Amino acid sequence: MKTSVILVIGAALLASSQVSAFNVDTYLAQQCSSCHGSEYYTRSDRKIKSLGALKTHLRDRCNHVVTQKMDSKMLNAVVNHLNNKYYKF
Ligand code: HEC
Repeated sequence: MKTSVILVIGAALLASSQVSAFNVDTYLAQQCSSCHGSEYYTRSDRKIKSLGALKTHLRDRCNHVVTQKMDSKMLNAVVNHLNNKYYKF
């Protein structure tokens, strides 16, 4: 009984520390750079033309190919990061 309570608290702490420790740069380097780096976001014929398209692309395309899936918080952080740094919609 005691052990299971400790386990639940431990799991909750672990989950919250993972969220607060989420760092977009590290995530991009670990999950995305195996296929492409920022050159894709800045190429002259880039495909993403709006903030909505960026979000849809990340959610429906990129999230399927990465090993550590993005939840909606992470997704928003990545969208904002890419937009502030590269797309500037
Ligand atoms: C398995 C390989 C792979 C991984 C991993 C991957 N991508 Fe991509 N990504 C691609 C390919 C291929 C394209 C080009 C698709 C196209 O041209 O239609 C692309 C295109 C993109 C684009 C659109 C660029 C443009 O033209 O404007 C964005 C944004 C993007 N990726 C972000 C990411 C992010 C963020 C991650 C990590 C969460 C990621 N990708 C992980 C293969 C990958």
